[in-house]
Amino acid sequence: METSPLKLAVLVSGNGSNFQAIVDAIEAGRIINASIVCLISNKVDAFAIERAKKHNISSIVLDHKGYPNRQAYDAALVELLRQHEIDLVILAGFMRLLSPTMIDAFPNAIMNIHPALLPAFPGLDAQQQAFDYGARYTGCTVHFVDKGTDTGPIILQSVVPILGSDTVESLTQRIHGEEHRTYVEAVRLFCAGRLKVEGRKVLISE
Ligand code: GRF
Repeated sequence: METSPLKLAVLVSGNGSNFQAIVDAIEAGRIINASIVCLISNKVDAFAIERAKKHNISSIVLDHKGYPNRQAYDAALVELLRQHEIDLVILAGFMRLLSPTMIDAFPNAIMNIHPALLPAFPGLDAQQQAFDYGARYTGCTVHFVDKGTDTGPIILQSVVPILGSDTVESLTQRIHGEEHRTYVEAVRLFCAGRLKVEGRKVLISE
């Protein structure tokens, strides 16, 4: 049975290499049944906007500075996403916390990628945190977003060893490589209708 493609929106603040990985996977047919309807950035100078142009994906700048508070910004975001009939919101380096206004509007339909193995090292500078802690392994986590910071149900994780020769920069680079692979796989599973959330657990069906 033919189903119409799921509509994805990707939210960014900067570089957008995860956005690029998802675009490439859709174009190569590795993610099917999905279309990126828009890129939304809270920063006018995000490099991800250049990436979107190259692939004819419409980009929208929604600058948080134009709003009195987080809730007002998120209400505008929800309206924009609803206008575009978005099925899945993908946070890819979107450097803003989401308020309940956004979370309640898209239950289990907002994904984030975090550059550590949650619940270890949540929050900012996760690669630096793991490096400074002396952990032997870190990695990345794709999770659904709930009302906490980096606390939502975990979809996929990938492990990256921390080598004796590593600097934070080399470690960050290797984690980034894993992020691209892991995020693409999580989006692929979602678009194939294979993810189901039960409490804290994300079940992946065959
Ligand atoms: C990644 O490290 C991701 O884990 C974090 O923000 C960064 C975004 O990188 N949430 P990019 O913009 O996709 O290159």
